Order: sequence, then structure tokens, then C-alpha cells
Amino acid sequence: MTVSLSVADLMHKPAVVVSDGVTLAAATKVLDEANVGAAAVLDSAEHLVGMVSERDLLRSVGHGIDPATAPVADVMTRDPVTLSIDDPVAKAMEIFRERRFRHLPVLDGDRVAGILSIRHVVRVAHIEDVQPAGSAPSGLAPRGLEGVAVAETSVGDVRGEQGFFHYRGYNATELARRCSFEQVWHLLVEGDLPDERQLSDFTARAVAARRLPEGIADLLRGIAVLPNYTALSALRSAVSITAAALGSQPTLDLTAGQVRTDCLRIASLVPVLLMRLHRHHRGLPPVEPDPELGYAAAYLQMLTGERPSDRAARALEQYLILTMDHGFNSSTFTSRVITSTGSDIGSALTGAIGALAGPLHGGAPSRALAMLDAIGTPDRAEAYLRTEIQAGQRLMGFGHRVYKTDDPRSTLLRDVATELGGPQVEFARHVEATALRVLEELKPGRRLYTNVEFYAGVVMNSVGVPRDMFTPTFACSRTVGWTAAIAEQAANNRLIRPSALYVGPPAPRELPEGYGAALAASHVTTR
Ligand code: ACO
Repeated sequence: MTVSLSVADLMHKPAVVVSDGVTLAAATKVLDEANVGAAAVLDSAEHLVGMVSERDLLRSVGHGIDPATAPVADVMTRDPVTLSIDDPVAKAMEIFRERRFRHLPVLDGDRVAGILSIRHVVRVAHIEDVQPAGSAPSGLAPRGLEGVAVAETSVGDVRGEQGFFHYRGYNATELARRCSFEQVWHLLVEGDLPDERQLSDFTARAVAARRLPEGIADLLRGIAVLPNYTALSALRSAVSITAAALGSQPTLDLTAGQVRTDCLRIASLVPVLLMRLHRHHRGLPPVEPDPELGYAAAYLQMLTGERPSDRAARALEQYLILTMDHGFNSSTFTSRVITSTGSDIGSALTGAIGALAGPLHGGAPSRALAMLDAIGTPDRAEAYLRTEIQAGQRLMGFGHRVYKTDDPRSTLLRDVATELGGPQVEFARHVEATALRVLEELKPGRRLYTNVEFYAGVVMNSVGVPRDMFTPTFACSRTVGWTAAIAEQAANNRLIRPSALYVGPPAPRELPEGYGAALAASHVTTR
């Protein structure tokens, strides 16, 4: 039915337009008054230069952009895909499906004649004909919940456009530059930076909590020799068993204080579990954590059996602080969903590690190092990087979904790596500079910068963390963020239970005539 219509039949006309110089606040007013989800953005010659949608506005507010001063040109989609007034609806459907847009400007010559919304098309078609992947029919949140705020949090936030993220309002990179792991841990879980007395009490509790519960040591030995061992899945299993052995109770039955106490105990144990697994797997005896050492130094001491240098411990500590939390990421959301059922902290952390394990989330800092290995020497960098990009490959450690400017974590980790020094760091800096130049040339306008993974691998490698322990190390620091999220969810809980839009065969369906009768009879007798 839809294929016989043209877009002119369905589009909103005349098009709602704004000029590229107006502020976000003014554009919002225009959308509001016209009751539409998007407007075409025109330059002073009234030519189309972009599209701005409610989603862009929402995202910009989420990124801390001031709507009263920022111009629409900063957030709009530039040079949008357009339709022509005579195009069939089928063509629009194809674009909606392939490109995941929700609004398309319709041109009559070089003038904007109207705007076609996915809703205009869905209204006249069967849903399976027109629902584009990634776009949401009305009532359905966008795929991947992109741009949708699903909770309130005071733990922290990420402002991608500004290259800024914070923990409870404090710039996270400044915290990493100036504070200890324990200070920031206290900030995230207890809600504020500790004074001296609070810090020494908190640290003493964290150190005391490193003791394994009864029976766990033997189980760890067993897990470490299972076939197909990987450090992260072993850690996931160990966290689950350990939390159970600690008597992890449903958060629904605990006070806020009890939840935070349980969070501290399990977060203190996570690196202990990981290092035991690691050493058993390599046939080495486990190393007890030195109670004199803080989190980061003890981490390296349990790994190698030796007290690390202050420089190495501090470099790792800065990496760990930088990766404790990062907005409402998938594993943090997972931990909150599980907590929202009233379940225990062990379950929430086990689920969060499971979410982190996915390649789309936990990343693989080792991939950036693998790229450095593949390049080998500085003189090969340029040719290697060009060939990769020209072959459609991604350079590992560059680009980010949220950061369209320097990733603040990479900026600090570059400094940390530089301070550690050494030939690998020099080489990495050369490769980074070459990659940024080549990306700018071959992928202009994509805003591709160094991401956290590039120097994370270099820093961990420099302080002696083996490659297969990169993501598990990330899991240890992120446990702090997860526990902060768990405590926040438990303190103000509502079951997270969304719904889905059913798109299967029309219901109710009739079972085929006679189906199941014979089975039901034999089932009773044979069981
Ligand atoms: N190298 C070369 N080109 C790139 C890179 C890269 N690293 N990243 C993006 N691009 C290009 C894409 O090819 C695309 O080009 P095109 O317009 O010619 O098609 C354009 O930039 C936009 O790419 P998207 O896929 O839209 O970017 P997206 O935001 O989806 O991707 C991601 C972000 C996945 C991080 C991507 O930049 C990437 O794959 N980077 C390499 C892997 C990496 O470093 N991952 C770790 C990320 S940090 C973390 O997760 C903790």
C-alpha cells in the first residue's frame, strides 16, 4: 500500500525550520510550538545545512551543553540525507531502515518543502514493512536505549562533547591526579571525600576485608585449573561463590549501611580472588596481600610476590581511579537491574562482570598493544596505519562513541605513561601522533581521537600487568563504580521492569488440530 504513495503525500508541510544561529532553547520552543520531533536547519541563504531533533536536544542537555547559549549548529546532524518531493515512500522506508534516521527533509529543488517522519510512514503501513532497525515506532525507546535517561544518579556522569567526566561532581581526572584509590573509593561508595579519620577507618576496614571466607581458597585452586580457563570468567565465578560464602543477603532485607558494608567487603576481595586465580593458573603459590600496602600497591604485590616501586604503584593507581566509573554504562545498568529485584550484591556484581566481558563493552586494551607489536618500528608506522585505514580497518585505541574530542582518560594516561618512560612509551607516542595525522587526512570530520585503550595497555604493560589481566584489572576498579550504583539503587529502589513491543505472529494463535493430544497421554505414562 505504501509503495504507491509519494513522500509529498505523507510529509509534514510546510517544513518546520530554524536558522543555524539560533540557540538550542529557541529551537526547542519552535519544536514545541509546532508539535514536531525535528526541524530543518537553514543557513542565511535559506539552504538546508542540517537537521535538529528532540533526540539531539536531549543528548546535548545530557552532555551538559547550555541550551541558552549553544547554537543549534553545534548539535545538529550536518548535511543530512534528503528525499525529493517525488520520491516514492518505498525509498523513504529504505532509508529509514538502512540509516536509522527518524526524520528526513524533503526537497523541492533546492528548497525544503517538508519533513517526513518515520511516524508518518508507520501510520499507513504494516509495522513489519517499515520499522527500521534502530529506529523506534511510537512508544518504543530507541534501540540500545541511546539517549534515554533511565534513572537518576548522583554517582557521576560523562560529558562527551566536552571531554569531561566526573565522580560526584569532582573532575575524575583531577581526582586521579591528586587522590589515592581509597579516597576516591570512599567518595563513590560513601558519597563524599573522606577526612583523615574517615580515611584511616575506611582503609583499615578495606584491608581487614581482604581475608578470604572459609572454604574459598580450595575452590579457587579448582577454578584455576578448569579447562578453557580465562581470567575474567574465572573471576566472575569466584565472585559469585565468594559472595555466597560471605552470606550475601538480598539487598531488600538490608539497611543502607549494611549494603555499603557488604559492598566494601566484596570489592576488597575482588583483586585477592583475581590474583590467586592468576597465580594458581600459572602453577605459582598465592601471595597474601601485605596489610601495609594500599589497594594499588597490594595489587601488584599479590601479582608478582614483590613490593612494587612507588612509581609503578602510583601509575597503576591512577589508571584504576580513572576506570572506577563512567556514566550509566552497560555493566553499571546491569548491576542496577539486578539490585532492583532486591537481589544480593554478589548476584549484581556477577551479572556486571558478565556484561563487562562482552567485546562491545569491556574493550580489549591488549588490542592497542597488539597493534604496536604489529607495527614494530617507528619507520613502519605511517605505511601500516594508512594501509589499515584504506583497507577499512579501525585503528585500535582511537575513536569513541561518546567522546568527540580528547578522551580525558587518554590524556592523563599519556602523561602517566610518559612519566614511566621507556622505549615502548616513546614508540606509542610516535604511533599516536602519526595515527592522529593519518586519521585526520583519511577520515576528515569524523572527530577521531585517542581513546582510553591506547595508553591503558601501555601503562599496564609498563608496570608488569600481563595482557590477559588487562580486562580483569579493569573489572577490579569498575567494581567500585558498580558497588556505588548498587548502593544507590538499593537506597531508593523501584523494580526495573520495562516492556517490549511484541512483533511476532498475531496472538492468540490456535494450536493445530489434535496437536499435543498423543504426546500428553504418553508423557503421563512414560515419566
Ligand atoms: N579507526 C579508523 N576509522 C575509524 C575509527 C578508528 N579507530 N573509529 C571510527 N572510525 C571511522 C569509521 O570507519 C567511520 O568512518 P566512515 O564515516 O567513513 O564510515 C566513522 O569513523 C564513524 O564511525 P562509527 O562506527 O560511527 O563510530 P562509533 O562511534 O560507532 O565507534 C568505536 C566508536 C567503536 C570506539 C570506534 O571508534 C572503534 O571501533 N574504535 C576502535 C576500537 C577501539 O579503540 N575500541 C575501544 C573504545 S574505548 C572503550 O570502549 C572503553
